[in-house]
Amino acid sequence: MAIIIKNLNYIYGAGTVFEKQSLKDINLTIEDGEFIGIIGHTGSGKSTLIQHLNGLNVPASGTILYNGEDIYRKGYSKKKLRSKVGLVFQYPEYQLFETTVLNDVKFGPKNIGMTDEETDRNAKEALKMVGISENMYDVSPLELSGGEKRRVAIAGVVAMKPEVLVLDEPTAGLDPKGKNEILSLIDKLHKNNGVTIVLVSHSMEDVAKYATRIVVMNDGEIFACGTPCEVFRQYKELEKIGLSAPQTVYLLNELKSMGYDVDTDIINPDEAVKEILIHMAQQA
Ligand SMILES: Nc1ncnc2c1ncn2[C@@H]1O[C@H](COP(=O)(O)OP(=O)(O)OP(=O)(O)O)[C@@H](O)[C@H]1O
Ligand SMILES: [Mg+2]
Repeated sequence: MAIIIKNLNYIYGAGTVFEKQSLKDINLTIEDGEFIGIIGHTGSGKSTLIQHLNGLNVPASGTILYNGEDIYRKGYSKKKLRSKVGLVFQYPEYQLFETTVLNDVKFGPKNIGMTDEETDRNAKEALKMVGISENMYDVSPLELSGGEKRRVAIAGVVAMKPEVLVLDEPTAGLDPKGKNEILSLIDKLHKNNGVTIVLVSHSMEDVAKYATRIVVMNDGEIFACGTPCEVFRQYKELEKIGLSAPQTVYLLNELKSMGYDVDTDIINPDEAVKEILIHMAQQA
């Protein structure tokens, strides 16, 4: 019972001509150890929603409980919350500001009150985890490549040892190799370190591959929520809101409509190949 979002409403520019209700009555429970994928077209409210998870956005109404406690209660420590719920913004590399890579990664742990020893150990461990070697510790973050900067920025949040890691499109703008490295890292944090993951992504394929549960946002509301299978069974409804399921789902449904009795719940391409080969063998 890590995070309970209750009847959350959020309005940008309330009371002005630019007033925009970006979240409408959101209810969602994120259990410990889950890997939640949040998808939805641009402007559907994904970033607005996740920026509530560490108390950054304050809702117009509704609330969030973290381990049973209301994070918007007067006196609730946001600093403590931010040490437990780490948020990686989109293009986090723009927020690198320290003179060296190591100092940048140390900033977060130091700021939440870890000892110098813990800070140093966690920062180095996080850099190792993201694949940044020791000879880069003293380099200025400005001298790194885009992908390296991204990894350093993520290390800065990982070094705080959060229980929940929230990432807003962490692979945006990376090449396939850089993208896979980041996704594998997130998967490792989930599987090996038991970190609860909330990943915002535009890629159905990525979300389908890693998430245990998918939340589909549309116009500030939760349009669908369930396991990848459950969500992609609604592929025709997803299309109506401008989204699509992974290609495998279309392929298997097409085969089914042609009379082949294939399992249309398969999402993983390798499993789909096996399924198709089995049917081909049966036909032969
Ligand atoms: N600072 C802001 N001021 C006013 N309106 C905003 C602001 N930020 C976002 N919005 C509006 O709130 C809605 C939700 O935006 P949000 O950034 O949460 O969407 P998103 O799903 O993250 O989109 P994207 O996929 O493009 O990142 C949009 O209609 C957007 O125009
Ligand atoms: Mg966004």
